[in-house]
Amino acid sequence: MEIVDIISRYIPLRRKNGHVYQGLCPFHISKEPTLEVDRQGQVFYCPVCGNGGDVGFFLKKIGAIKEGAGMEIPPEKEIRLIEALLLAALFYHRILISPGGQKAFQYLLERGVREETIRDRMIGYAPRQRDALTKYFLEKGYDPVEMTEIGLLVRNERMYQDRYYNRIMLPVEDVGGSLVAFVGRSVGTGKPKYLLPPDTPLFHKRRSLFNFNKAKEAIMENGEVVLVEGYMDALSVYQAGIANVVASQGTSITPEMADLLRDYTKKVIICYDGDDAGRYGAYHTSKTLEELGFDVKVALIPEGDPDEFIRTKGVEEFRRILSNAAPARHFRWKYDWGKVDKESAVEKLYFLMQLEEEEAETEDVEFLARLLEIPPQKIIPYLQR
Ligand code: UTP
Ligand code: MN
Repeated sequence: MEIVDIISRYIPLRRKNGHVYQGLCPFHISKEPTLEVDRQGQVFYCPVCGNGGDVGFFLKKIGAIKEGAGMEIPPEKEIRLIEALLLAALFYHRILISPGGQKAFQYLLERGVREETIRDRMIGYAPRQRDALTKYFLEKGYDPVEMTEIGLLVRNERMYQDRYYNRIMLPVEDVGGSLVAFVGRSVGTGKPKYLLPPDTPLFHKRRSLFNFNKAKEAIMENGEVVLVEGYMDALSVYQAGIANVVASQGTSITPEMADLLRDYTKKVIICYDGDDAGRYGAYHTSKTLEELGFDVKVALIPEGDPDEFIRTKGVEEFRRILSNAAPARHFRWKYDWGKVDKESAVEKLYFLMQLEEEEAETEDVEFLARLLEIPPQKIIPYLQR
């Protein structure tokens, strides 16, 4: 397997020059990226601690440190499963660009998904027949049990069938860029909108951030990540040239997803949908991420989602929304204040009592004074208890 892809599942790597990548060496304590990984020679080496070797040696060595991380399945099987997923991706992609996929293709174009995006991500279409992929795999001698294990087939009574049919197929990559699953979107308004993959030996929903592999270099370069809710939002934002975007896939973020991000950045801009669900999601996600040590801002889309916003207002307007992102606590105060009955002294007092920020900045006091329409001096006592 590709050494850069494998090692980058464990530590962030950045291209140093040509085929050489560098990152923090996991085998000694250091703040400098001394570990070098050579894509051409397929070896790694740290001149400081002297550890070096091939991918097998890296995995053995790191296995001793990170118990149970990745690699629960034998490498030969992993290769076989990923190859099957790649074959399925090609299968679906070819159908999307053939006459049989015309409707789905047209739908994507109408939604503003560019042809290059379709090509680069190998987006596909699973046809209506319930056994198109099953037949294809069986003819090629693939093991239907394994194909079911990776979420491509399902077993109904006595036969295997395709798990996905009549759906646009979005390939999902893991942190290292291996294809590990598919998400199937209905063409148009069919329900459910998304058919998600089950957890498999290669894919764990709790640990997966959509678009992370494509975004990671840009996340390091920008020093921050833009977190959106939806698959289509991530595609759209990325395609518009904002590459440091990942999707939490629904509104909740898990500690495992936060762990993925932490190695790359501590700064998150949450840009969820402009509706009630999106605001509620931003409220809780920002809290979770702050508790996990992130510096969080919230960028508010007036209505709709980032994808629609970019299509109707343009990417420059969207960039403005991002750069105007407010500290998450301000967003939450505003949210809470919005629920307070302004006629009720008790509710207003209760709101003030909830302000438990230990060291409030001047900007916090000013923000609250404006929000509550009272003099700053009245706010201060509640902020510094
Ligand atoms: P949205 O309904 O906002 O999806 O759900 P979207 O990505 O913007 O899709 P379009 O624009 O309508 O095509 C946000 C996210 O919630 C999860 C998905 O991760 C989705 O991207 N979700 C939503 C599901 O998992 N299943 C569903 O049926 C719906
Ligand atoms: Mn959308």
